[in-house]
Amino acid sequence: MLKAPIPRLDLDAELRNMLTPFCRLKPGDIWEDKSSGHKVGCVNSYASGEIDHLMGNKKAVLAVHDPPYNFVAFDELEIDEFILNCKAWIKSTYDVLAENGSLYVWLGADQKNHFQPLPQFMMMMMNSGFSSKSFITMRNQRGYGTQKNWMAIRQELLYYTKGKPIFNIEAEYTDIPKVLKGYYKTVGNQVTSNMERSKSENIRAGNVWIDIQQTFYRMEENINGCFAQKPLKSCDRIIKAGSNKGDLVIDFFAHSGATLLSAEINERICYTCDIDPVFCEIAIRRLERYRETGQTGWQNSNPFYEEITKDDNIKAYLMNNHQIEY
Ligand SMILES: C[S@@+](CC[C@H](N)C(=O)[O-])C[C@H]1O[C@@H](n2cnc3c(N)ncnc32)[C@H](O)[C@@H]1O
Repeated sequence: MLKAPIPRLDLDAELRNMLTPFCRLKPGDIWEDKSSGHKVGCVNSYASGEIDHLMGNKKAVLAVHDPPYNFVAFDELEIDEFILNCKAWIKSTYDVLAENGSLYVWLGADQKNHFQPLPQFMMMMMNSGFSSKSFITMRNQRGYGTQKNWMAIRQELLYYTKGKPIFNIEAEYTDIPKVLKGYYKTVGNQVTSNMERSKSENIRAGNVWIDIQQTFYRMEENINGCFAQKPLKSCDRIIKAGSNKGDLVIDFFAHSGATLLSAEINERICYTCDIDPVFCEIAIRRLERYRETGQTGWQNSNPFYEEITKDDNIKAYLMNNHQIEY
């Protein structure tokens, strides 16, 4: 099995600069896939003009956004500045969503700092035009063990709506078998438990998702260098519930292209963008690799393996700065 480690690209601007010449998009460019209609833009999603450029005059039915969380990974901003940025891309989202559309936002909450930016984001959303619909928690497996606090294993996912969008309830069953009896109700003079009443063997997805494996290096969909990638299973769940085949889905923070690939697999069209040409290139290569091989990621290799092995500068950089040998 190919082993090609690469450090977290979000934390290594120098390495990203070294990889940029291998990327087909530069800032402002938009890649359009003629066969499917997907688009990937090298675009700053905080700038409404750039989003308009990406969208043309198209409206989407579903937005799935995963912005930087303002802690740990990526740059940390003053909270007011962070929220101002959020306000900008939320407004663009509202404008480019159809009359009836859904918005999902992945977000974090810094427990060492009053759970920022989650409460500030929720407050900002009160004047956004969107209605709040659900507050989903996905259980992450990769927690940091500690004797001094509860292990942090949650990932927040906020669900908002504009108008009255579709919600495909049949897509909402998990593969978790029913194990708990209870919730008794009288039906036709007979007291029945939830197990007897329900038609499905499995439980419906509520707003606590415990059946989704966090992406890590033993999974095929893993991409070395991408630290923030969301599991395809979570993207599939959102896309199936919030859109139909052929619908347009948007994601303003592409990174590994998880929403893009899920849209491809589920026969939706996706317009996505990232401010960084390296992540745009990764998203496009991931889609192309899936079409060529059926594989959903690079597992413990990375999208730039071929280029890195031929480039002495990058090899020396990885050796000197990360003790990684190619
Ligand atoms: C948390 S990651 C998204 C992860 C993604 N959902 C996935 O599964 O791979 C955030 C991404 O947003 C990008 N980003 C940060 N600021 C941006 C901006 N102003 N416009 C567009 N993308 C931005 C970063 O480069 C990063 O790739």
